[in-house]
Amino acid sequence: MKKFKTQDSKFNKSEPKKQEKKLKTQDSKFKIRNSELGSWNSKLKIQNSKLRIGVLASGNGSNLQAIVDRIQDGKLDARVEIVVSDNEHAYAVERAKHSNIPVHIVDYRSYPKREEAEEYIITILRQYDVELVVLAGYMKLMTKKFINTFPLKIMNIHPALLPAFPGINVIQKAIDYGVKFTGCTVHFIDEGTDTGPIIIQAVVPVMDDDTEETLANRIHEKEHTIYPVAIQLFAEHRLVVKDRRVFVQDYTYSEQEPFINPCNQQG
Ligand code: GRF
Repeated sequence: MKKFKTQDSKFNKSEPKKQEKKLKTQDSKFKIRNSELGSWNSKLKIQNSKLRIGVLASGNGSNLQAIVDRIQDGKLDARVEIVVSDNEHAYAVERAKHSNIPVHIVDYRSYPKREEAEEYIITILRQYDVELVVLAGYMKLMTKKFINTFPLKIMNIHPALLPAFPGINVIQKAIDYGVKFTGCTVHFIDEGTDTGPIIIQAVVPVMDDDTEETLANRIHEKEHTIYPVAIQLFAEHRLVVKDRRVFVQDYTYSEQEPFINPCNQQG
């Protein structure tokens, strides 16, 4: 099982105490930056050709972290302009603050209708000139209006090989079903549940002694690889959608990673 240790272990939940002090000081810096960002936006856009992404996250935020890490490594030509969460206690929120990314908490309970909460989120995403909306463990379903506001500009990651096992609790469902392989899928979102055009998938084996946790770790490791790749392909304008198929321009198959498709974008 050691082999499948997630890269997230370097940022696990036992560490927040150590980071607490750092977070507080960076937080005040972040607030100033956040309030000034609106007026900086137009200037930044001219100076900065990086893809402007907004990440929506409700939970642990390991995919957010993987995206931030790949940006820092210079492997992803993007900037996380804003993180929106429906859960102020989400670890994703701490991660965002730790990386000096502005955060907005949108508590759906304060809005009479989901559409109104989404309206506010749309306003925030527009304020930051977001070009791609990245759902990373966001636990709210989006309405037709939200989806149509960003046509083919909202990505999601799902911990199964779609169209198998859409919906929730799918890692345990895959174990219970007895499949020998499962994996993860990055797709554009449409109005259905996990039915949008598939961009990239990665396969992992299911072992006889897997628990939900061990299999989740194996899947997450692949998620952290393929989500930044999908975003980079988008940033390079290489994703072409025809009907419901997504084609990657200038793509040549690489035999080095046969269980990630498309797979020549690694490294
Ligand atoms: C991932 O398994 C993703 O596939 C699903 O939600 C989980 C989010 O994990 N949509 P994290 O919050 O990014 O760690």
